[in-house]
Amino acid sequence: MELREAIGRRRSIRFLLPHRPVEPEKNQRMLEAARIESHWGNVQSLRAVVVFRDSASPETLDALQAPIAGFQIRLAPVVIVWYIDGAAVDGQADRLRELLAAGALGFGEGKQDALEKQLIPIFQSIRDKLKEPGLGEVDCGQGIAQATLMAFEQGLGTCCLGSPNLDKIRISLKLPDTGRVLLLQTVGYPAETWEAGGQRPRRPFEELFHMNAYGEAFPRDPAVVAELERDKMFTTPAPLPWREAELAYLQKALGIKGHGLL
Ligand SMILES: Cc1cc2nc3c(=O)[nH]c(=O)nc-3n(C[C@H](O)[C@H](O)[C@H](O)COP(=O)(O)O)c2cc1C
Repeated sequence: MELREAIGRRRSIRFLLPHRPVEPEKNQRMLEAARIESHWGNVQSLRAVVVFRDSASPETLDALQAPIAGFQIRLAPVVIVWYIDGAAVDGQADRLRELLAAGALGFGEGKQDALEKQLIPIFQSIRDKLKEPGLGEVDCGQGIAQATLMAFEQGLGTCCLGSPNLDKIRISLKLPDTGRVLLLQTVGYPAETWEAGGQRPRRPFEELFHMNAYGEAFPRDPAVVAELERDKMFTTPAPLPWREAELAYLQKALGIKGHGLL
């Protein structure tokens, strides 16, 4: 499948087959994809614990339970707990040295000296600031996005979920004090069709993106839109006519009580 079509098909899959385990190697491929994503200063602060419902302790599974749409965590064969480790920033100087040695940074004779005497001291002077939420989270998000595409490419569905219990999860998984849980990602084989009801609504392009300065909408060329429709990056907007029937079927098949929102 072409990348454009893959981007168009990938969406949050809330309904997973509870009885079909996910092969560890498929999870490994997701982690491998996350690992090679870019990160400022090549710091690599993204970490994860992959929790398998079939083998994790009851305490761990209990800590993951979500107060919102809780059925998703309950049914998922795998939940990836993605977290950021601020301690990775402490290795910044060595990561920069590695980049220099790899030919990814700087030119010529003087670069070694400039790195040690100028660039590294700049980073060290703002080290605590760099541990605060910001760029690191962006990079982690990119890694998670890459893992998500890899999951999709292997026929899996995923859904990212926040949680108000992030500290409880951190303690239950024995994460280091420097770790901060970012989100939980359910992983499994989809119980719903790939459309999952259709393309979810998005704010208008012109409202989101600007040219040169805020207020001047980035011009949206209809020819490009038509091309992306042709390439299947844009799919039919939700809800597809049979979505309600599909939801009723899924609710019954998976034994989900109530409206499923909480
Ligand atoms: C970082 C992140 C956190 C999310 N947290 C939740 C959540 O806590 N509960 C939930 O039901 N959905 C959550 N979602 C799923 C969004 O609701 C979903 O992305 C949105 O409905 C759009 O659907 P789509 O991803 O299929 O385009 C989250 C998605 C992301 C990317």
